[in-house]
Amino acid sequence: MKHQQNILQDTHGRDHGYLRISLIERCNLRCSYCMPEEGVQLSPKSHLMTYEEIYEIAKTFVKHGVTKIRLTGGEPLIRKDIPVILEKLASLPVELSISSNAVIIHKFIDVLKLNGVKKINISLDSLDREKFKHITRRDQFDIVYKNMFLLIEEGFNVKVNVVLMKDFNDNEIIDFINLTKDLPISVRFIEFMPFDGNKWNMSKMVSYAEVMNYVNGSFSNENIERLQDAPNDTSKNYKISGYNGSFAIISSVTNPFCDSCNRLRLTANGQLKNCLFSSSESDLLTTLRAGKSIEPIIKKAVEAKFKVRGGMDTLEKLQEPKLHNNNRSMITIGG
Ligand code: 5AD
Ligand code: SF4
Repeated sequence: MKHQQNILQDTHGRDHGYLRISLIERCNLRCSYCMPEEGVQLSPKSHLMTYEEIYEIAKTFVKHGVTKIRLTGGEPLIRKDIPVILEKLASLPVELSISSNAVIIHKFIDVLKLNGVKKINISLDSLDREKFKHITRRDQFDIVYKNMFLLIEEGFNVKVNVVLMKDFNDNEIIDFINLTKDLPISVRFIEFMPFDGNKWNMSKMVSYAEVMNYVNGSFSNENIERLQDAPNDTSKNYKISGYNGSFAIISSVTNPFCDSCNRLRLTANGQLKNCLFSSSESDLLTTLRAGKSIEPIIKKAVEAKFKVRGGMDTLEKLQEPKLHNNNRSMITIGG
């Protein structure tokens, strides 16, 4: 057989077995850390991948070694054809998972189960209804909170993403950890990251070290267990002894985990991004529509991947608006 070159390995020796596919640029929430208040310029519908195109592109990645696919958005569940997308992707030999804001996820329990989705990440940035409304610009706290319990009851493996912002929700860190006493969830505190239009600055971010200060102030040292992180994990995992669930910190700003990165991202309009922070994109969809192979483009995009955060390897570079605003808003990348 002809030797198959591994097109998903980059020049830093990283293999990319994990593809995150954004299905849609729209969302039923308006989280301020994710998108500007005035919204984002949406791609015309004809520029978005159809479910057949999503499947074709995913198949190519799977052929070259992708074993995990996560569906993201915007909010992936507001795509009308989500059941068929799930069904098509579930026919591939991959672990299929989804990130959702959980506003309408109660309507999709059966279809998620039917297609073997076990891992679900939801966003919940505050346990206070008013604060939730403030950050998401929508009054949907009650349903999201209820759906978190529903997902647990239905047996899904649930992770709860909390983007921390200074003087906004950092006083809720311990409340979130207290949730893990009974609930078998993983709460993931995420350092607020800079993207186009989200008015980021370093002083709004709550760092890994600051989270641990709160934790150390509330629990005794011998009760704070550092867990073994999974390979390619983006988070540093902990648990309070005897608690059912765990918590983690995703420290993309102060402690990037790029060395073990195995992720590639496909945007809803068919652009491959080799890093969350990369400002360049490779157009797979146009090539696919022209009936040509997308493999050479994938290879080139993977080869061009920077060692750290799309080239913003220092905090100084990350803080440079010229550099991080070159990127998209998070809503059109997919968390
Ligand atoms: N910083 C950190 N995480 C973010 N997310 C979106 N925007 C940001 C940001 N600026 C993550 C959140 C959300 C997911 C969709 O993407 O975890 O839950
Ligand atoms: Fe929607 Fe998630 Fe972005 Fe919030 S963070 S606007 S829920 S995509």
